[in-house]
Amino acid sequence: MPEKKILTKNCGKIDPGDVSTYEAEGGFKALEKTLRISPEEVIAEVKASGLRGRGGAGFPCGAKWELARKSKGDEKVLICNADEGEVGTFKDRYLLQHDPFSLMEGMAIAGYAIGAGKGYIYLRSEYHYLLEGLQKAIDQSKEKGYLKDLEIEIREGAGAYICGEESALMNSIEGKRGESRFRPPFPPESGLFEKPTIINNVETLVNVPHIIQNGSEWYGAMGTDESKGTKLFCVSGDVARPGVYEMELGCDLKELVMDLAGAKEIKMIQVGGSTGGIIPSDMLSTPLAYETILGSGAVMVFDQTRDVVDFTYRTMEFLNEESCGKCTPCREGTEVMVGVLGRLVNGEGVDGDMEVLEELSDTMKLSALCGLGQTAPVPVLDTLKYFRKDYENRISQSVFLRSLKTVNG
Ligand SMILES: Cc1cc2nc3c(=O)[nH]c(=O)nc-3n(C[C@H](O)[C@H](O)[C@H](O)COP(=O)(O)O)c2cc1C
Repeated sequence: MPEKKILTKNCGKIDPGDVSTYEAEGGFKALEKTLRISPEEVIAEVKASGLRGRGGAGFPCGAKWELARKSKGDEKVLICNADEGEVGTFKDRYLLQHDPFSLMEGMAIAGYAIGAGKGYIYLRSEYHYLLEGLQKAIDQSKEKGYLKDLEIEIREGAGAYICGEESALMNSIEGKRGESRFRPPFPPESGLFEKPTIINNVETLVNVPHIIQNGSEWYGAMGTDESKGTKLFCVSGDVARPGVYEMELGCDLKELVMDLAGAKEIKMIQVGGSTGGIIPSDMLSTPLAYETILGSGAVMVFDQTRDVVDFTYRTMEFLNEESCGKCTPCREGTEVMVGVLGRLVNGEGVDGDMEVLEELSDTMKLSALCGLGQTAPVPVLDTLKYFRKDYENRISQSVFLRSLKTVNG
């Protein structure tokens, strides 16, 4: 299956600093069409398309919009999540950099559908260099009259991974500590400053003009039953041609990493970022879709030279560092996991370490407050499942080294 460029069709073609070049490619025609129909009809079209959130969780977009539209409250808010803190994920950056007007159009349509007068773009601090271009895109779109009903403001993050999680993100905009909130209430009911709020990923919003312009039937013909449309995949790691690839959902992982990105001698692939699932080399024909494995679209390739236990240890170190610390299962669970995995990589593993990791994983998955703690165990459990021998070898090496020490005094 070759690349299918829909969301990225303007990238490299238009001048991201000149709105007229976007208009010349048919830009803002979907917004014009939107304004001729009712907000309910827009929502119905997005619902029918089957569009699901591209930020990682895959929540149906139209259903979320409907909740916000129906929520009581005169003021509703739209937030574009451009935090893109997920490890190995750089697709939103690609869109923001090369085609910021598609995001403006997507936000204008979303704002109209849910009835929001205020919109925010939450931009990760590492993307500060994109701020000027983004502001220019807002200003030009406004001057042309495309943002008449939606005032968009950019807010910058401060380098916290957790602030990509929607409730921590809202805390951050409100000037509070960046930590997850208890739910309910869910944002479409009560979100930013307690107003009904829709938070969507950059890529999700960029899908919207295409759905409105070409119709839900056209869109629904791409992908699988549960995963419609195309997806931007960020391929990195041990590949010859890293980069952003746009493919139809349900595409073959092997084709993406080997044929397109040029990977060889694969040991494993992590799909979806730091808390994403692991695919070993004998499962490369797995289709990339919500019903199999997807997440943010990060596809990190590890070749035969990579050490699985070391990889898992460093991943857990990152998650432990980035845990907001609000809930005990995540704060303490990631800490204990770093301790156990650290023991294993330092040649100090003991019998029972794998079982401790497994038990703790189950507890965290069930009881952590947000997606970070709930999914932090995924790489641990997957590597234990597919590369158990690597863990067993680490433990037996440790036991052997300790016995030598005892013999040698
Ligand atoms: C720890 C953590 C970090 C996240 N980071 C991001 C992020 O950087 N960008 C993003 O769009 N979603 C991120 N999410 C998902 C958001 O919470 C939320 O589901 C998403 O922004 C909703 O938009 P969507 O429905 O369009 O995907 C993160 C979730 C978690 C648990």
